This record gives sequence, structure tokens and C-alpha cells, in this order.
Amino acid sequence: MNQQVFEKVDQYIGNLLAPEDTVLQETIQSLDDAAMPQISVTATQGKFLQVMLHSCKAKRVLELGTLGAYSTIWMARAIPADGKVITVEFDPHHAEVASRNIAKAGLSDKIDLRVGKAMDILNELISEGEQPFDFIFIDADKPPYTEYFELALQLSHPGTMIICDNVIREGKILDENTTDERVKGVQRFNQMLAGNPKVTATIMQTVGAKEYDGMAIAVVN
Ligand SMILES: C[S@@+](CC[C@H](N)C(=O)[O-])C[C@H]1O[C@@H](n2cnc3c(N)ncnc32)[C@H](O)[C@@H]1O
Repeated sequence: MNQQVFEKVDQYIGNLLAPEDTVLQETIQSLDDAAMPQISVTATQGKFLQVMLHSCKAKRVLELGTLGAYSTIWMARAIPADGKVITVEFDPHHAEVASRNIAKAGLSDKIDLRVGKAMDILNELISEGEQPFDFIFIDADKPPYTEYFELALQLSHPGTMIICDNVIREGKILDENTTDERVKGVQRFNQMLAGNPKVTATIMQTVGAKEYDGMAIAVVN
């Protein structure tokens, strides 16, 4: 098995079960046009998020890390018409591109894009007494993943599903002597998850069009 096979199989699954329409294709194109990194979830991962949203009948979704709103659009399409996605992005350029993509997708009423640091917005949502979310997708900067998760718990209810992307980092999490702050951040996060009695959690390794990685999946007890 090699990366080429993983990519071909990802394409096969995508064509079968996660075909992109022009809105999603243009969202990916908009990243190149705006000189932004191609670090969105893949189409098959977008569909995976939709399946998870359906499984917990999610209406209220929180996302940390919007980029161009590719994952946001997948998720907003999987919740009922009266549902809401709050998505948080701290880079104003990314937020501007995301906002255009959300409008083109006809989802401006369902998606509330908050521009600011994830930590600040999480604390704001908590202090404003925001209703708990049914589903939380953490996909922003990696060093504070543990703190994001702890704050996300305060915005959850029993049954809330919390998915955190990029927690395996091509296996670099096995390196105890790493100096990479992103790897150290997810190592600390994975350790916290293992000992957290508030959730039932595991980590799924992910292969496909993007590099080898993994997603932590937790359900609040
Ligand atoms: C991996 S990308 C998100 C990809 C997106 N979820 C998708 O799949 O389409 C991470 C994003 O998080 C943003 N980000 C990084 N640090 C952040 C922070 N402290 N607060 C909010 N957003 C942050 C980055 O600017 C970037 O746009």
C-alpha cells in the first residue's frame, strides 16, 4: 500500500459517496485564487462529518477554524433548515473568502462566521450563555487543542459529539522528543483525552488524498 493507492481509493469513495457540486469545487478553487493553503478536509471527510451530524441529529454546530468554509458548507448542508453553524476564523483574509463562499452556497442564514481568536470566541460564547452545541469540530491551531476541548465541553450537553482533526500528524505523535509545537500540542491533547472521564473517545487514523493523519472522536457522557 502506498499514498498513490490511498489517493485513488479516496477518489473512488468520493465519486461514489461524496461527489462535489460546483459550489464545493469553486470553494476549493477560491483558496488557490486567494493564495490560501489547501488544508481543507477532503470531500470524503466532509461526507464523514455529515454522517456524524446525522447520527447525533445535530442542529447546532460549532467549528473552530473556517479557512474558506469548505467543511462549514458540508456541515451546514447536513443540518435542518432551522439549524445553525457558528464557525470561528481569526485570519480576516480567510474570513473574507469564507464569507463569499458561504454567500455563493446560499448558506448565509445558516452560518454565523465569527472573526476572532478561537480562545476569545469560546470564552465569549460561554460568558454570553450560548446554548449548548450538538456537534463541535475543532480544526484550528494545534498547540491549544487541550484548552479548546476543555472550553468546548462547557458548550456541550450529554451526547454532543466533538471531532478534532489532525491529531496523528503522519505518525509524528510517536516521537517523544519532538520539538514541533503542533505535534506537542496534539500529544498533550491525546493524553488528556485518554484520561478524561467526561467523554467516551477514540482516534481514527485517516488516509486518502491528504497526508496520513487522524481524527479524535469524542461523545460527551
Ligand atoms: C485547517 S484550517 C481549517 C480548514 C477548514 N475547517 C476546512 O476543512 O475547510 C485552519 C484554520 O484555522 C485558522 N486559525 C488558526 N489559528 C486560529 C485561532 N487561534 N483562532 C481561530 N482560527 C484560527 C487558520 O487561519 C485556518 O484558516
